[in-house]
Amino acid sequence: MRDLFDSTREEAQKELEFLARRIRELDVAYHQKDSPLVTDAEYDALKRRNDALEKLYPELIRDDSPSKRVGMTAADDFSKVTHTVPMLSLGNIFTKDDVYAFMEKIRRFLGLPETEEIEMVAEPKIDGLSFSAVYEKGFFKVGATRGDGSIGEDITANLKTIKEFPQELKKQNSDGTVFIPDLIDVRGEVYMSKQDFFDLNKSQEEKGGRVFANPRNAAAGSLRQLDPQITQTRHLSLFAYACGQVHSIHWETHSQFLDYLKKWGFPVNPEIKICKTADDLVSFYENMMEKRSSLPYDIDGVVYKVNRLDLQNRLGFIARSPRWAIAHKFPAEQAITRLNKIRIQVGRTGALTPVADLEPINVGGVVVRHATLHNSDEIERKDIREGDFVVIQRAGDVIPQIVKTLPEKRSADSRPFVFPTVCPVCGSHAQKEGEDAVIYCTGGLVCPAQVQEGLKHFVSKEALNIEGLGDKNISLLFELGWIRNAVDLFYLEEKHGSELMARDGWGVKSAHNLFEALNRVKKGVPLDKFIYALGIREVGEVTARLLARNFISFENLRSQMRTEKAFDILTHIEGIGPVMAEYIADFFSESHNEILLDQLVQIIHIEPYEKKAGRITELTGKTVLFTGTLQNMTRSEAKSKAISAGAKVVSGVSSKTDYVVAGSDAGNKLSIAEQLGVPIITEDIFNQMLDDL
Ligand code: IVH
Repeated sequence: MRDLFDSTREEAQKELEFLARRIRELDVAYHQKDSPLVTDAEYDALKRRNDALEKLYPELIRDDSPSKRVGMTAADDFSKVTHTVPMLSLGNIFTKDDVYAFMEKIRRFLGLPETEEIEMVAEPKIDGLSFSAVYEKGFFKVGATRGDGSIGEDITANLKTIKEFPQELKKQNSDGTVFIPDLIDVRGEVYMSKQDFFDLNKSQEEKGGRVFANPRNAAAGSLRQLDPQITQTRHLSLFAYACGQVHSIHWETHSQFLDYLKKWGFPVNPEIKICKTADDLVSFYENMMEKRSSLPYDIDGVVYKVNRLDLQNRLGFIARSPRWAIAHKFPAEQAITRLNKIRIQVGRTGALTPVADLEPINVGGVVVRHATLHNSDEIERKDIREGDFVVIQRAGDVIPQIVKTLPEKRSADSRPFVFPTVCPVCGSHAQKEGEDAVIYCTGGLVCPAQVQEGLKHFVSKEALNIEGLGDKNISLLFELGWIRNAVDLFYLEEKHGSELMARDGWGVKSAHNLFEALNRVKKGVPLDKFIYALGIREVGEVTARLLARNFISFENLRSQMRTEKAFDILTHIEGIGPVMAEYIADFFSESHNEILLDQLVQIIHIEPYEKKAGRITELTGKTVLFTGTLQNMTRSEAKSKAISAGAKVVSGVSSKTDYVVAGSDAGNKLSIAEQLGVPIITEDIFNQMLDDL
């Protein structure tokens, strides 16, 4: 009896440990990453199970028990903000005819003759999240999401972390004093630029964090963070385009209002145009459609607004949308096509990544042939099978995704996809590692795919940047047996130079360029680039830089990694966790890597890390403004020097400005600085202050 009791207790202990970890993981996914891993019911069941076990064995309640955790604030825990003027939505139209009909309806409603022009403002419809920001006497007070239109979530602290977001409305600009309403609720869209989205996903991938499906989700996941410090690390941007409640209006048209927004310091979309006729609106739409892919942010349509506020007031609202504005949406970038095959790619780390080969299809102007499937769990969860018809979606420039499969269109002999248990390239055993959903090939250097991917990484732009060695060429040289590892690259000219020049599709010039690029690398490579190039698992550009900064030289890094303390040394570095530390330490202790590194350090000059950022100068942490013409450098040069010395460069002078650098012919800003008592310095003094302390 006693034995049984003990073992049950032991089991309970183990299960409680598991539950604590699992529930924490689910909490983080749900609350911090906006990406639930299980259904609410499944989550609740785990919590109930935890509670029941704790009731049975109160002595086993852990310090980190989910029942004790109150601090894990839920998304529901954002305080609520009631919008004084509701945040409405817009009606949608989809065709050119709809545009003419919309204008006709307005004209009829207002009883205006054909001859009278109704001026419109056309704007891109930014694909982000709308925000409301209330300013009292020009100072930012409360920020909120749209929520259900009447009540939103308080994101005051989060908005403050956005660089472009004005915490104070500018009262002065080059034209003089700007009117500031006693109270105004400025509205607009928070978004993430395509570039920042790619960068974020890249670093998330490196950190093993959540990868976002599109910039909109990334913006939402970044803004709706209970911890504004997380928001701060994400690059968010915004455009202002409307207002809610406002005390005393000093403008008669929407376009005049947009001018005020600009004067107050808000980013206003530069594509916005005044249109005189419905034809103008249609050409704006067509023009934006063409421009769409080259814009730095995602848009999902355009918005037309009646310019005159008196007409807007007369038009009023239908249900929850204004009669004076409408969204003209771009065609949805979704399509249905057949999934011909699920192909398994083997990455540099041995990760087996499933890719869907699709029947080519045009989605929003781009032919899509492949879609990402992420991992085996995703295939299982969505029950995606070869031969299925699937709904695919292309969001901006992102790799297309499979939204869902259409099981009703399946043939009778359809079978669930069975994920391979061996590597499709080298036949080595494939398995999951840890709690990761990814399955890895265990072949290591035996696996040609891993080796080739490693080489591609080694020469890639972000690593050693060896031009002329694209993926195809790496595969070719690998298959020829000319390059089997990174060292072979540097013997290519000596051993196979003439053969290469004689090859079809190569020629003397391209071979020459390649050899030159390789020779450039031999002469010198920054330490962080070299570390990144090694392709150590989990070590992305950020970690590579971190290692470079901490160890300064490659020699030092290697010798420290050879000691027994390697793991401890690494985990003491802020930003390196135990998993990463293990991968790094393992990398340097493997004998085949040692042999390779011994050779590489003979061939390549690895430049010691130069501390660029983090310099301490008199300008570090100071707010600086430039005005007038500088003698020995351009304005942008001066700005970048100031920034690299740790200063913040601003364009509007205020009492918070620490220094105004005045060149010749300085104007208004100089006199404001004088009035405010801000220290004014010359270009020479500025130069002196740039010196390291
Ligand atoms: S005006 C009363 N202008 O679209 C109308 N909205 O479907 C207020 N949006 O919730 C909105 N770009 O999040 C307006 N240039 C723009 C916009 C825009 C994006 C979003 C906004 C709104 C939704 C309406």
